[in-house]
Amino acid sequence: MSKKKTQTIVVTGASWGDEGKGKIVDFLASEADIVARFQGGNNAGHTVVVKGKKYKFHLIPSGAIKNNIIVIGNGVVIDPKVLFEELTMLEKEGFTPKLKISDTAHIIFPFHKLLDGLEEGTKGKYAAGTTKRGIGPTYSDKAARYGLRVFDLLDEEVFLPKFNRLYELKLKQYQIFTNSSELWPLDKEEIIKEYLTFGKKMKPYVVSSAYYLNTALNQGKRILFEGAQGCLLGIDHGMYPFGTSSITWAGGVPGGTGVSPTRIDKIIGVIKAYTSRVGGGPLPTELDGDLAHQIREQGHEYGTTTGRPRRVGWIDLFNLKYATMINHYDALAITLLDALENVNPVKLCTGYKYNGQSLESWPIHSEIIEKCEPEYIEMPGWKARDSKEWSEIAQQGFEAVPNEIKNYIKKIEEILETRISIISLGPNRTDTILKEMFWD
Ligand code: GDP
Ligand code: IMO
Ligand code: MG
Repeated sequence: MSKKKTQTIVVTGASWGDEGKGKIVDFLASEADIVARFQGGNNAGHTVVVKGKKYKFHLIPSGAIKNNIIVIGNGVVIDPKVLFEELTMLEKEGFTPKLKISDTAHIIFPFHKLLDGLEEGTKGKYAAGTTKRGIGPTYSDKAARYGLRVFDLLDEEVFLPKFNRLYELKLKQYQIFTNSSELWPLDKEEIIKEYLTFGKKMKPYVVSSAYYLNTALNQGKRILFEGAQGCLLGIDHGMYPFGTSSITWAGGVPGGTGVSPTRIDKIIGVIKAYTSRVGGGPLPTELDGDLAHQIREQGHEYGTTTGRPRRVGWIDLFNLKYATMINHYDALAITLLDALENVNPVKLCTGYKYNGQSLESWPIHSEIIEKCEPEYIEMPGWKARDSKEWSEIAQQGFEAVPNEIKNYIKKIEEILETRISIISLGPNRTDTILKEMFWD
């Protein structure tokens, strides 16, 4: 029997986001017909660097600069203002991606953003440190069945009753959070006008993502699914409540697009050579002082969306093993190895001790994790090189990779029991080594 050709690949982050998903998606997008997002919103910040020029994507899939068809699936929450700003940015740069937007994706309104900040303010030590883009409140309304979807913006008669109901609810919530409605900074009529205009502008792009993507697959097209956030920030398999509100692991693809799990051919996890995180919650391998400063600067670890300095730490193979188990990755991509240069030794966390006992499995609950002591192994680090040297190594291929890095990769492969097939030694598209072909 002939082997089925690979038609679908999912790329998800395996940890706390910012693993370099944008770069890996851009790298794999050249052979895809369609790049589709299935969850999250403009809380994401994905960076793609081509010939030294940086492109930042928040809502639109990173495959856009390959002029692919790009699909915003039903699992995404859309801030229409951001959508059109990003489209304008792309047009200015000379890119004309063919955009399709799911009719059942939910809409972020200005009051969602307002309430995002107010909700956070009541959460005390449980605050996740959100991006304040209205993500949590919009997904809450979706689950409570108060939300408005793309379809609802297309027709004033459909829009108005649903909008009025939601608006009244949000005003009441604002009153509860602030004990007052006097300072409500939003103008209802203005929002109605603005969002009906967005609806008109969106109309030409609107599709059913389920029909669109399944038809494309039936026609033999290739789809790359781009994850946002990371597995450990997910609503179910992340460290709740210190994460985001969507399903960030590969299991989010079927629900967020309407493509069956049986149509997914390959799943690639992106990890970085160390750990980074923005926002709250315990981070057992976190570093501080000079070493944290060094890694943060070498990796330019400042949020793509909010500019916040990212917390950094040693690679945590204990939680990555959990992510690897649930995603059942076919292969991993490792990024930012160059950014861990001149650190000697490097440490790898292989487990946690809790009450003096080594744990068998990653404990997921923040109340346990904050009391855990990481267990480490140490390995020799690698020397500093300038970015040109790293690029040259990448272009020469895996053979040219410094032995210390080869050993580091081998150890991670051994512990995670998964092969690392994409090795990234710099931010540029060309700073990448591919050890196997994925679109076979
Ligand atoms: P994403 O959210 O997972 O797409 O990641 P971000 O774009 O938020 O953050 C990753 C950052 O690392 C971006 O600035 C990338 O340009 C950069 N990057 C990705 N891979 C590499 C790499 O191998 N080396 C270096 N130095 N930078 C990288
Ligand atoms: P990319 O796609 C890193 C974090 C926030 C906060 C929590 C909840 O670039 O990897 P939210 O605004 O989603 O309600 O915030 O999740 N967070 C991210 N951290 N990278 C991201 O996206 C993130 N998106 C959300 O910092 O702790
Ligand atoms: Mg990011």
